[in-house]
Amino acid sequence: MHLSSVVPWGRNLAEYQRMFGLTPRDLEGKILGVGDGPASFNAELSAKGGQVVSIDPIYKFSGQEIARRIDEITPVMRAELNKHSANYLWKDFSDVDQLVACRTSSMSIFLEDYEHGIREGRYLEGVLPRLPASGVYDLALCSHLLFLYEENLNFEFHINSLLEMCRVSDEARVYPLVNQAGQQSRFLNPSLKRLNEAGYHCHVVQVGYCFQRGANEMLVIRRR
Ligand SMILES: C[S@@+](CC[C@H](N)C(=O)[O-])C[C@H]1O[C@@H](n2cnc3c(N)ncnc32)[C@H](O)[C@@H]1O
Repeated sequence: MHLSSVVPWGRNLAEYQRMFGLTPRDLEGKILGVGDGPASFNAELSAKGGQVVSIDPIYKFSGQEIARRIDEITPVMRAELNKHSANYLWKDFSDVDQLVACRTSSMSIFLEDYEHGIREGRYLEGVLPRLPASGVYDLALCSHLLFLYEENLNFEFHINSLLEMCRVSDEARVYPLVNQAGQQSRFLNPSLKRLNEAGYHCHVVQVGYCFQRGANEMLVIRRR
């Protein structure tokens, strides 16, 4: 993987809590964040005493390299958000400037924590559909990767990644369930069918977070 092909963009703990309906009890468990990238979820939760490990291919790069890529990509993201602002609900964020400031703040918190977090084993390089972990987590979370990028990641990738998240955790949650156009992913129903056949209970649950239009649901998967 080349860093030039990566768009690092990260959300914060409060957003993760709302995207995944995380309760105080959920946050006390051992959590695996899959594809966390430069989100500040891990840094913020760890600072509060939480137990969280994040996995992402960008963790093979140094903090300096990731910071440089964030600086390159931020104006591009700002331009894209301005161009497609109608695809988003401007409720939690009043405008593009406020959103970019929030993302920049999250990514700064991540960068400040990164080297320390690597030493503590909280940021692990890894690439779905394989995870470098065995079944030790209470909860595996994946935000803004599966379903959203259905144009780039095929169905086999999706089902193998979902089964892999279930292999290493008691419960998996994925958000959002829409593609980049805001339509329900065409892989959602076939994934539910395959997961059911493999012995899992799947629930589509409404959540209290919605920034991209249509993105107000998560998938919860548990072994039957
Ligand atoms: C849009 S970002 C979302 C970051 C974070 N989850 C959030 O919501 O703020 C998508 C992340 O998925 C990571 N990613 C891309 N392909 C991946 C793969 N095959 N396995 C795991 N992570 C991947 C990227 O490096 C990037 O950090």
